[in-house]
Amino acid sequence: MDKFRRTALALGASVLAAGGLLAPMSAAHAQANAKLKVGLMLPYTGTYAALGNAIENGFRLYVTEQGGKLSGREVEFVKVDDESDPSKATDNVNKLVKRDNVDVLVGTVHSGVAMAMAKVAKETNTLLIVPNAGADAVTGAMCAPNIFRSSFSNWQPGYAMGEVLAKKGVKRVATITWKYAAGDEAVRGFKEAFEKGGGTVVKELNLPFPNVEFQALLTDIAATKPDAVFTFFAGGGAVKFVKDYAAAGLKKSIPLYGSGFLTDGTLDAQGDAAEGLFTTLHYADSLNVPKDKSFRLNYAKTFKLQPDVYAVQGYDAAQILAIGLKATNGDVGKKAEFAAAVEAAKIDSPRGAFTLSKAHNPVQDIYLRQVEAKENKMVGIATKALNDPARGCKM
Ligand code: BEZ
Repeated sequence: MDKFRRTALALGASVLAAGGLLAPMSAAHAQANAKLKVGLMLPYTGTYAALGNAIENGFRLYVTEQGGKLSGREVEFVKVDDESDPSKATDNVNKLVKRDNVDVLVGTVHSGVAMAMAKVAKETNTLLIVPNAGADAVTGAMCAPNIFRSSFSNWQPGYAMGEVLAKKGVKRVATITWKYAAGDEAVRGFKEAFEKGGGTVVKELNLPFPNVEFQALLTDIAATKPDAVFTFFAGGGAVKFVKDYAAAGLKKSIPLYGSGFLTDGTLDAQGDAAEGLFTTLHYADSLNVPKDKSFRLNYAKTFKLQPDVYAVQGYDAAQILAIGLKATNGDVGKKAEFAAAVEAAKIDSPRGAFTLSKAHNPVQDIYLRQVEAKENKMVGIATKALNDPARGCKM
């Protein structure tokens, strides 16, 4: 272009602008081009630290596979270590929402912390994707159009194991778990199905989270002599519990069953103590799912680690975000369009494709797995397309 034409064009543009004829960039357009701020609120210390790291890895892997951008927006991470501490949760989530102005919250692992996040997300209408915490209330009484879960409800794996043991003809079970929402709700789900199937929960044992002084409770189990034990523990606590159970000599006499967190991401540390254990979960190490094959390969190449259920849930949290953003051209303000797209989607997960319920919790197969040679091998499907009852959800 010659100098004269350039000058004429520039002059024309300034005349239009002076007359207010050039539309200023709309807020939505500006947002759609800005970096997408993702607030990761996860535990990076404490008994759930490994779970938080795996979730972040899975989330980042999906974003990297998309070239670092979702719907044309470069992704920027702001991180908070929530320490799995509910007493710090409201302050932590407010920092991300009010100080850092994140576009979306992704978190967390611990059910008590997640409930505080859901409350703030609801009050401020911030998009929240929960990549682990199973608190039933998040997609139950606290459900909201802007809250989604890529993982499970605590009820789901517990309920599936209740069905498995009842069908097996087990009659008397003792339960043992941490006394907080995740443990309570896993046991409640187990009990609901197990007692419906004719079994009885003869003893419910608890200790405060994240205590790992199991000895007195193991002595109680030995004295009670149930047919089996059902448990919820995860992370570092699960490692210690499985080892202590075996060391107390109980593994041979009273079979141990659990929600699959008992043996996921923990097998190297648990060693022989975990061999042979049966658990129920929405993921396993030996699935014949094409998406799982590519996911496991990419994850191992990128992080020099084998993935676990937490990595899958982080990956799928990013997939849910991508689906919603695609439908809104990257505009997180369009909450109704975002929700409609996610509600209609079939999510191509390494666990096998799943959909979200009306309450935004995965409707998914729960696998029966058995630990064999340090892998959670899939034995079969314990419960097909299990949908959480979403009690109290009005949406
Ligand atoms: C929970 O607190 O909801 C939870 C923590 C670890 C594994 C599974 C559930």
